[in-house]
Amino acid sequence: MTHVVTGNCENCVFTDCVEVCPVTCFYIPAENANMLYINPDECIDCRLCVDQCPVKAIYAEDDVPDDQKQWIETNREKCAAGDLVSITEKRDPCPGALEK
Ligand code: SF4
Ligand code: F3S
Repeated sequence: MTHVVTGNCENCVFTDCVEVCPVTCFYIPAENANMLYINPDECIDCRLCVDQCPVKAIYAEDDVPDDQKQWIETNREKCAAGDLVSITEKRDPCPGALEK
């Protein structure tokens, strides 16, 4: 299995999640960094990131709500495409994230 970043992360990107991941499997686009992804081949399902996200964007693959299931494949595709960079330290969220 893996864990999956879903739609609530989009245009928020609080990045609390990245600091707890023991295998550093979070990735972010080098440009237009408005969404994080988990590499499903690296995630060890430790669950540590789930409670860190203030907008509850991260789910175990089996628990992803029906209206968010497209993100399972999106995380996989984006990580496979190779134009992402590893992120392990917290950054400022997207403008407007707190209001959103
Ligand atoms: Fe990293 Fe664990 Fe979250 Fe997977 S479940 S992304 S290994 S913190
Ligand atoms: Fe996104 Fe939540 Fe992490 S908003 S960056 S999944 S803490």
